[in-house]
Amino acid sequence: MKKVIVSAPGKLMLFGEHAVVYNHSCLVTAVGQRMKVTVELTQQETFELNAPDVQVENYVKPMSELGLGDIPKGAKFVEIAIVNFLAQNKITGGLKITTQSEFSSQFGFGSSSASTVCVIKALSELSAVNLDNKSIFDLAFKTVLDIQGKGSGFDVAAAIYGGTLYFVTGGKVIEPLKIGNLPMIVGYSGIKADTVTLINEVGEKAKKYPEMIESVYSQIEKLVEKAKVALLKKDWQTVGELMNFNEGYLSTLGVESKKLADMIYVSREAGAYGAKLSGAGIGDCMFAFASDKVSQAVKDGIIKAGGEVIDVNTNVEGVKVEEKI
Ligand code: MEV
Repeated sequence: MKKVIVSAPGKLMLFGEHAVVYNHSCLVTAVGQRMKVTVELTQQETFELNAPDVQVENYVKPMSELGLGDIPKGAKFVEIAIVNFLAQNKITGGLKITTQSEFSSQFGFGSSSASTVCVIKALSELSAVNLDNKSIFDLAFKTVLDIQGKGSGFDVAAAIYGGTLYFVTGGKVIEPLKIGNLPMIVGYSGIKADTVTLINEVGEKAKKYPEMIESVYSQIEKLVEKAKVALLKKDWQTVGELMNFNEGYLSTLGVESKKLADMIYVSREAGAYGAKLSGAGIGDCMFAFASDKVSQAVKDGIIKAGGEVIDVNTNVEGVKVEEKI
């Protein structure tokens, strides 16, 4: 085998963002839009990357210089993933890699984590070391931390395992939940959120008001535990109420924006079970859970509030090999 095509899904945080960075639990679901990565072994001792979605074209460097020098932003996750893989495993020759995403990197669906996971899975196949999911997680999470310095790893877990997961910081717990499809409507705010900046801002708040913020985190954790039970029972009414609770805490943490709040409130007014932002906040996406009866009204409301409705499938497969050549 010389060439492998691997795909992994994007993700949306359901409950527990921010708190999960500090040793609390969260719930995340994978979405149907996938990242696809083609990795080919070559005779040249070079690394070649094409990632048009993140403006990287014909980026070439010697394999011996991987991880060194100035790395373009859009190439970082792929390149550092290879460095981390090669620290433990061997491949001979060079690598030609192409990434192609079914979703915009602006959505906050986790395109960087998904491509990191795909690269590690592909290298594991090509070198026949056949890493298990937890080993892929550890290498991919290390890659994210090497680049971002911060993060819980929930996005990496969603890309690997798919479906809906109960997750604790750093992969201490990764529990796939048998739930099936979620009655989810997703709205994109049109604003790009910078996760690391927002984690830092919440961190500053926690320094200033440690007891208050720590108690918000532990309230969020309680809510995550209840939401897990309600999701497993498909008790959407309770899930919706807990979403609204969670949004209140996110507003307290300072990561709700007027645009997201507008999209969330119109969803609730249109009869959704509940609505909240997803991820770091301020921008990216919000989502609502809604019955079929009101789903069109919720979508119309989101559009009226200036958002873009993004159709997503849930209950989707994690990382998988699409083709071996
Ligand atoms: C960002 O999508 C969610 C955060 O909780 C960060 C993380 O868990 O890595 C803010």
